[in-house]
Amino acid sequence: MIRIPLVAGNWKMNGTGDEALSLIDAILPELQEVQDVECVVCPPFTVLYIVSQRLSGSGIHTGAQNMFWEESGAYTGEVSPLMLKQMCKFVILGHSERRAIFGETDDTVNKRVLSALYHGLVPIICVGETLDEREGGMTDEVVQCQVRLALKDVDLKYSDEIIIAYEPVWAIGTGRSATAEGANAVIEGSIRTILKQELGNSISEATRILYGGSVKPDNAREFFIQSEIDGALVGGASLKAQDFVEIIRAARN
Ligand code: 13P
Repeated sequence: MIRIPLVAGNWKMNGTGDEALSLIDAILPELQEVQDVECVVCPPFTVLYIVSQRLSGSGIHTGAQNMFWEESGAYTGEVSPLMLKQMCKFVILGHSERRAIFGETDDTVNKRVLSALYHGLVPIICVGETLDEREGGMTDEVVQCQVRLALKDVDLKYSDEIIIAYEPVWAIGTGRSATAEGANAVIEGSIRTILKQELGNSISEATRILYGGSVKPDNAREFFIQSEIDGALVGGASLKAQDFVEIIRAARN
């Protein structure tokens, strides 16, 4: 089963208008020749439109970092799938920072996933265990539960539109990445297994699963050569043009 590698940059809460455009202008020429990796840039909502305009026709996609599940209405401060689909193809959902800081639950992540799929957005669903959960030997249980609940009631007709990102919480922004073999084992043993149970064998085999957590140019290749890792969700290093470009180059088969 050939799965096209995907590398997405999650800018988190970084990037004013000027900063966003200079970053895009620095990466764009470097990525012109990269054909065989799907590249996604996920800036904050405030610059999503200008970034999507700048990237238009380049082959590099944009993604949002979150969304609400309703289409419109009295939801102050929220952004809807109808608004996003005008300017991006992907949306990160259930990031551990949303779960830990903003109180998102498996249930609200599931509502977002169902809404994103219904509206034609591709969700990048984040799952991962905390350090306590890992040390308590609960990694598989936690990750499987997050995947199962995020996908509850998903219509199989949308199943080729789902991306999972395995991001161990203890590896995010800490400089302490999982070992490539360890991440591959969780993805193979937990995530593909639960995908198989929930969505069937062929969908499990076709679904792209990314690793995220302190991915840098000097460790990216180790992750990408693993059989079950199909790319990366990159935080800090996606804010440095050269680092992001090197990670994308490392993902080429
Ligand atoms: P870092 O690459 O900064 O560890 O962040 C990972 C992440 O949270 C991507 O969503």
